[in-house]
Amino acid sequence: MADSQPLLSLDGDPVAAEAFLQDVFRIVVDEVIRKGTNASEKVCEWKEPEELKQLLDLELRHEGESQEQILEHCRAVIRYSVKTCHPRFFNQLFSGLDPHALAGRIVTESLNTSQYTYEIAPVFVLMEEEVLKKLRALVGWSSGDGVFCPGGSISNMYALNLARYQRYPDCKQRGLRALPPLALFTSKECHYSIKKGAAFLGLGTDSVRMVKADERGKMIPEDLERQISLAKAEGAVPFLVSATSGTTVLGAFDPLEAIADVCQHHGLWLHVDAAWGGSVLLSQTHRHLLAGIQRADSVAWNPHKLLSAGLQCSALLLRDTSNLLKRCHGSQASYLFQQDKFYDVALDTGDKVVQCGRRVDCLKLWLMWKAQGGQGLERRVDQAFALARYLVEELKKREGFELVMEPEFVNVCFWFVPPSLRGKKGSPDYSERLSKVAPILKERMVRKGSMMIGYQPHGPLSNFFRMVVANPALTRADMDFLLNELEWLGQDL
Ligand SMILES: Cc1ncc(COP(=O)(O)O)c(C=O)c1O
Repeated sequence: MADSQPLLSLDGDPVAAEAFLQDVFRIVVDEVIRKGTNASEKVCEWKEPEELKQLLDLELRHEGESQEQILEHCRAVIRYSVKTCHPRFFNQLFSGLDPHALAGRIVTESLNTSQYTYEIAPVFVLMEEEVLKKLRALVGWSSGDGVFCPGGSISNMYALNLARYQRYPDCKQRGLRALPPLALFTSKECHYSIKKGAAFLGLGTDSVRMVKADERGKMIPEDLERQISLAKAEGAVPFLVSATSGTTVLGAFDPLEAIADVCQHHGLWLHVDAAWGGSVLLSQTHRHLLAGIQRADSVAWNPHKLLSAGLQCSALLLRDTSNLLKRCHGSQASYLFQQDKFYDVALDTGDKVVQCGRRVDCLKLWLMWKAQGGQGLERRVDQAFALARYLVEELKKREGFELVMEPEFVNVCFWFVPPSLRGKKGSPDYSERLSKVAPILKERMVRKGSMMIGYQPHGPLSNFFRMVVANPALTRADMDFLLNELEWLGQDL
């Protein structure tokens, strides 16, 4: 049947398929890689949603379209998408473009396999183990386990589940009925995924006890002690502490040694959410910020953030050597993980995770590491710290800028104080007026397409900008641009 019917589109026409893909690659190279990383091009092309819907022609129809139309769709998708590889994209904790990591992503996408069995991912099963081993060694572990997860939030969630299972293995079968009321501890500066994870796992957000942080955003170990006693007095059973290395907004590093002491004393699982700050372990100069991390039971680390490996690349690392991951999550599906295979079935790592199909996330990091070497990646981290310092020093020289605090990482948090508010700090409506500045400037920069930088209120602090220095292509000129542009955009306020 199929042979007698003309095939639609490119199905069964490898020559046309190749020509089409060559065209797509050309567009990607021109529009994303060349223009998207060019500071004189826009970082974004803002459109109102209704207009954007029209421009994209989003509707899916019964008839297929011509190759030329498809290529035009590709161009439009790129044109109206935000260029996160642009040197003026400071909006997120990820940015920039590493060509080797991108090559890894392209190869991964093209091979389109799943990480679960050696049978269909022989290269990636071995590679994932090697990459995880390298990351574990940087944490300070000569053995252990781990897995690449779809993002830091999920890595954190795995840690909660593993800690719970280790203490109450029964809960895998009996669920919440097997559990007393549990309590976990994290600082008020933690990433929101800890609460989400607690909700998703049936622990409930009430089980998350928020420990106080000091004025720099670091967890206060004495308050952790206090919260643990309080939870016990209320009849809850503490089981985990999640410390953060590199908090999302302020970039603070919790004091891991002191927190590990508390965990050791109470027999609690120590998880370190180093999704943002983990890459600092590569730097001999700055890795002291994570001193004590080797005492953790689990670590979440996102190379897609500071190392620019590309979304997604998030490792959950474990000190455990007792196959906890597999015992906690395995379900021995006989159609996939046959035990009588002709090779070592320990290589079928897919039963360690709750997913079935799992993306390959190791190649982008592996290829980038091969090209850069640990040395090159270390330089990248050190350069980010140095540029953040440069920005801080420049910012202090200008009248209209005020630091929220001296940063210890590459999050530079500051207020732009417009001309009308300068010298008015004591006035009653100062905070309220200041909080309106960042949203106005954000709108202006996005409509102009000149740069993107995030802002937020934080506790009692009114809206301030969080500048993230992560893109390895950034130079001092980009820092100067940022300050000049804010002054320009806010001169009439
Ligand atoms: C400290 C911290 N942990 C976890 C996450 C979540 O990572 P992901 O976005 O990969 O889920 C973030 C994201 O910014 C983060 O800053």
